[in-house]
Amino acid sequence: MSELGVILLAAGQGTRMKSETPKVLHPLGGKALFLHALETARQLDPTIVTIVVGHGAAAVQTAHPSIGVTWVTQERQIGTGHAVLCAKGAYEAFTGEVLILSGDVPLISERTLRAMLEHHRNRRAALTLLTAQLDEPTGYGRILRDGAGAIAGIVEEKDATPEQRKTREVNAGIYIASAPFLFAALNGVKNNNQQGEYYLPDIVEIGLAQRRTIETVTVEDPREMMGINSREELAAMEKNLRQSINQKWMQAGVTLKDPDTTYIEESVTIGKDTVIGPNTQLCGQTVIGARCRIDGSAFLTDAVIGDEVYLRFSVVMTQCRVERGAIIGPFAHLRPGTALSANVHIGNFVETKEAKLGEGTKANHLTYLGDVTIGRDTNIGAGTITCNYDGFNKYKTAIGDRVQVGSDTTLVAPMSLGDDVYVATASTVRHDIPAGALVYNPREERVREGWTEQKRRKMKGNKK
Ligand code: UD1
Ligand code: CA
Repeated sequence: MSELGVILLAAGQGTRMKSETPKVLHPLGGKALFLHALETARQLDPTIVTIVVGHGAAAVQTAHPSIGVTWVTQERQIGTGHAVLCAKGAYEAFTGEVLILSGDVPLISERTLRAMLEHHRNRRAALTLLTAQLDEPTGYGRILRDGAGAIAGIVEEKDATPEQRKTREVNAGIYIASAPFLFAALNGVKNNNQQGEYYLPDIVEIGLAQRRTIETVTVEDPREMMGINSREELAAMEKNLRQSINQKWMQAGVTLKDPDTTYIEESVTIGKDTVIGPNTQLCGQTVIGARCRIDGSAFLTDAVIGDEVYLRFSVVMTQCRVERGAIIGPFAHLRPGTALSANVHIGNFVETKEAKLGEGTKANHLTYLGDVTIGRDTNIGAGTITCNYDGFNKYKTAIGDRVQVGSDTTLVAPMSLGDDVYVATASTVRHDIPAGALVYNPREERVREGWTEQKRRKMKGNKK
């Protein structure tokens, strides 16, 4: 079987986006627009992948690792035909087929691309292009057919006669061509049209004049070939994508109390019988176990959560792991490097960072736990602060099993509390405390009877 190359067109500015950011870098479903079609094309195991960049080239190149990709720059964006020609150098000795995709057409499926490739090879075609039947064809190039129904050419909307514009069959902008035919034909493309551009679709007429076999395949679901040209279209597609992801998880046994306000990125996985409340965003490599409960207003990025975890209302979690049965929130902030063992409780207004908590340990109120390791069944009292930073360096705190840390305690790192230590309330601890010890800061407690009344009288007197 012959080899396959992929050329992805991503040089355009995307004028209608009205953005400083190149269009293909706008995120859809949490990843840059052009990566969608690129990742789908990779499923076909191409031997060469060429990405044509131009507008914002440097920024676009940083969005994808350069391994296995040839970047080609199109200095001036003077048409799709010219853009493909810019990639010619990468195909000098290449006699296989080239699949041409647009960076702004993200939903094209592997199935459709495979169907095109099979059709192209079966018919031994020089060029196969994807078409779609649209109720609303405005903006797309129209497919022209002869009396026998064979393709006769493509006319861009701006160049079309009113009669041609009535055609509902449009060019999807996705092509498979034999490489030698493609690059030879592109040399013959002219720019004598309304836009003064070198149109890739013009290779259809050139091929027909050479009596080459030109084939079309019609996409089954036209939503696959929708292009993104404006922010409205981006938002509409984001919504579609989101709805189909939500649908997939509901069909897999996950309850979404309000699918309209649930945002689940493609890369996320969720276990059965998990119940997710409104205003939840699950992003990146987040993994949610089975039978979990998420009350709502949760924002999770790269969070790995075991079965039967309960996230109460309003939690933000980034790059952390939580094991089975833990209860988090309401109003908790779990930052990178947090690892909570089974049945840990994190309560309201607790922040953790680089914090490892052993099984059954609790920190229920108003606490900061940073750069700390805590054993099992330890209780961290309200208002406990690990003082891990002196303005220059970060230091570690180690706390053992079954430790009782009283409220309003400051633990000045580096320091440690052995197993079964008891920290009295309102202590500042600066040293390593041996297992089983009590630690407290002696403070004199003074009482002045009648003081409030005296003070009030004095203040009133001053006002007169
Ligand atoms: C193009 C097709 C049209 C088709 C439609 C499908 C042409 C002339 N027209 O129109 O028939 O119906 O796609 O979506 O091809 N690009 C470059 N360099 C350039 C110009 C464009 O890299 O000089 C890239 C763009 O970044 C984009 C893609 O090519 O990713 C398509 O260009 P765009 O200007 O969006 O073409 P359409 O007007 O949508
Ligand atoms: Ca387009």
